[in-house]
Amino acid sequence: MQSTAPRSAESSVTSRYAAAAKVPEAALCCPVEYNREYLRIIPQEVIEKDYGCGDPSRYLKPGETVLDLGSGTGKICFIAAQVVGPKGRVIGVDMTDDMLEVARRNAPLVAARVGYDNVEFRKGRIQDLGLNLEVLDAELGANPISSANTFLRAQSLAAELRLTNPLVETESVDVVVSNCVLNLVESQDKRQLFKEIFRVLRIGGRAVISDIVGDEDVPDALQQDSTLWSGCISGALREDHFLKAFEDAGFYGIRLLKRDAQPWQTVEGIEFRSVTVEAFKGKQGDCFEMNQAVIYSGPFREVLDDDGHRLRRGARVAVCDKTFKLYSKAPYAGHFELIEPRVPVRSEEAHPFDCSRTQIRHPRETKGMAYNVSTAPTQCCDSGERGRA
Ligand SMILES: C[S@@+](CC[C@H](N)C(=O)[O-])C[C@H]1O[C@@H](n2cnc3c(N)ncnc32)[C@H](O)[C@@H]1O
Repeated sequence: MQSTAPRSAESSVTSRYAAAAKVPEAALCCPVEYNREYLRIIPQEVIEKDYGCGDPSRYLKPGETVLDLGSGTGKICFIAAQVVGPKGRVIGVDMTDDMLEVARRNAPLVAARVGYDNVEFRKGRIQDLGLNLEVLDAELGANPISSANTFLRAQSLAAELRLTNPLVETESVDVVVSNCVLNLVESQDKRQLFKEIFRVLRIGGRAVISDIVGDEDVPDALQQDSTLWSGCISGALREDHFLKAFEDAGFYGIRLLKRDAQPWQTVEGIEFRSVTVEAFKGKQGDCFEMNQAVIYSGPFREVLDDDGHRLRRGARVAVCDKTFKLYSKAPYAGHFELIEPRVPVRSEEAHPFDCSRTQIRHPRETKGMAYNVSTAPTQCCDSGERGRA
């Protein structure tokens, strides 16, 4: 395929993936080992048109509502459908009609084979998850754009649709997954893309994203190459910028679940490889004092969380109830000792807590100033002691 710069990156992506939905294009993805058990019931046509670089579906749980960004012919959605089971739901979003056609045609076959129907595919751009492109298409079919005035009217219609009939509702999804798509979004839209992922997730939800990243910035000349762009190279973020983009959008607990040691491709000395990143939503909100403390158990001398709490190994640090709860679950669970006060504080009596500085909590605050008990020795080595060989 010839480079056709300076075509818009998005139009080259649409035409390349429209063609790849009709005839499989080899080498448009990295080889990925999916769980064979889930592939058995997926039609061959879907598997042949696999353009992924990782497998975010392996991090899903039964019952979850999942949104797959850039769902292509539907492979990750059809795997996810089996992982989340009949009580879960899966929504695939793609902007390319030919991809949606393959995915939708195969969905009833998958539903018949698994015995339930929990997958649907919607047309939209992943950086604009409010706008349902099929509803807009229908409106524009009836009232085509033929002048500046009708163009402006279409723009206000789109704005209204985002509010009144969003493609994906705010805080409606447990997990956003994506497989090799974020890099394809144009540079000026990437910030909006991460904001949209954040918007649609429920508080406590998470993103699990497999994508291609570079070990260096991609120079302008490569970014102008539309073939390299649609081939998942030119739009790849530098790996540290990729993680920072989640941070900037408001996520916490961001971590690399997988990073391929071997690059998928090297272009002009820049290595492009697949990573899978997990990021959580839910650190926002008010902070209340409930007399709780945490102790960071190591191995690092000190850690800094996404809210700015700096915790020295072994130190008993006062935290608000929100932080206490965040530390009790993924991805922090197991890294902290969680210390509840001897006398619980009722939530309606809790005062605001200042989370902007690190405060050491004296054990007396936890136990109570008047605590003056003496006890006989207990059996201190319980069988569940951590770290035991
Ligand atoms: C590399 S393929 C990956 C497909 C699928 N995730 C897989 O694992 O096979 C990229 C897909 O994302 C879609 N896509 C690219 N940019 C998009 C955007 N901005 N909004 C919605 N879909 C997009 C393309 O149409 C294509 O189906």
